[in-house]
Amino acid sequence: MGFILENCNISPLTAEVVTQCNPFNCGDEDLNDFFNNSTDNYQRELLGKSYCCRLIDNPTTIVAAFTLSNAGMDTRHLPGSRKKQLIKPIPREKHLSSYPAALVGRLGVSADFNCKGIGTELLRIIRAWAKDSNNRFACRFLTVDAYNNAATRSFYEKNGFIYLFSSEQQEKDYIKMPPEQELKTRLMYFDLLRVA
Ligand SMILES: CC(C)(COP(=O)(O)OP(=O)(O)OC[C@H]1O[C@@H](n2cnc3c(N)ncnc32)[C@H](O)[C@@H]1OP(=O)(O)O)[C@@H](O)C(=O)NCCC(=O)NCCS
Repeated sequence: MGFILENCNISPLTAEVVTQCNPFNCGDEDLNDFFNNSTDNYQRELLGKSYCCRLIDNPTTIVAAFTLSNAGMDTRHLPGSRKKQLIKPIPREKHLSSYPAALVGRLGVSADFNCKGIGTELLRIIRAWAKDSNNRFACRFLTVDAYNNAATRSFYEKNGFIYLFSSEQQEKDYIKMPPEQELKTRLMYFDLLRVA
């Protein structure tokens, strides 16, 4: 089990839920603003579904929130070595130019609960949802645009996510970003058939 599965209910994060709860604060202003104000708009446009984990004993407290979308892992323009690494576990006759994936668009743990393993448990739950036989859409990879700071990178690295590009420079080249500009996020992925 874990803290979330033992102490929280997971439900869609709608504007109505937000009005019933204390403002969510994960320490990042953009994420707070999104989860507290914009989830309905996103959902309405079918761009992302947001969920929250609320304490069963105190449903006004949101412990964590996240947004999921369908995505694709397009391998066509990846550097050869990265593409090789990504498709190595997939039988050759099943190679595609783009692989089905789910995007962890946003994920935040309340500042009152961070560094307690909750984010790690959340990723375990998301992996289970993506692999669930009731998921009507096949999904091979999880992807994330991880904030390019030490804490977030370390969080995803410890949870088995791999950089799609081995260096920031390679990633900048791929997205055609000038070298002097700062890379705000790093593309990372997790193979759902990976042996832990
Ligand atoms: C990143 C975040 C989701 C991690 O959630 P969490 O519940 O604190 O994570 P866990 O307790 O499972 O931590 C696992 C690892 O994450 C890293 N980590 C998490 N918080 C950290 C911090 N404040 N400083 C440094 N490393 C941190 C560490 O590597 C940690 O491993 P350790 O406990 O062995 O040191 C959470 O800190 C958060 O919401 N941050 C702000 C929003 C954000 O950056 N979201 C990601 C958007 S892509």
